[in-house]
Amino acid sequence: MMNKTLLLIALVSATFTLQAQAAGNPEAGKTKSTPCAACHGADGNSPIAMFPKLAGQNQDYLVHSLTAYKSGKRKNPIMGAQATALSKADIEDLAAYFAAQQGLTVKR
Ligand code: HEC
Repeated sequence: MMNKTLLLIALVSATFTLQAQAAGNPEAGKTKSTPCAACHGADGNSPIAMFPKLAGQNQDYLVHSLTAYKSGKRKNPIMGAQATALSKADIEDLAAYFAAQQGLTVKR
């Protein structure tokens, strides 16, 4: 009986640890990315030079950029307006989605 309780505690805490590590849900991010596609292109592959490609960008970089636009630390009138409405969870979901797309590649 005691062992089962311990096993249950171990399983529950393992589940929470996994959720904490995987910040951002790419599926939710895809849904939230509809307004972004107008400028950044389908899947974040912008065909227009003035709109940066987001597809395949580093997830952490995307979180930091969007957080900085939201706080006003990074100033751009267009993206400032886009980011104000985003919650922390929205930013993490969007970053997870765009980071998972094929696009930007690293030259080696
Ligand atoms: C009306 C056009 C427009 C829309 C809509 C838009 N963006 Fe942008 N985005 C821009 C422009 C222009 C820039 C470049 C701004 C700058 O120079 O900082 C940019 C920059 C960014 C960057 C920084 C990229 C980099 O390489 O540093 C991120 C991240 C980003 N946008 C995410 C989003 C997300 C997520 C959405 C949807 C919630 C979105 N954008 C919607 C026009 C747009």
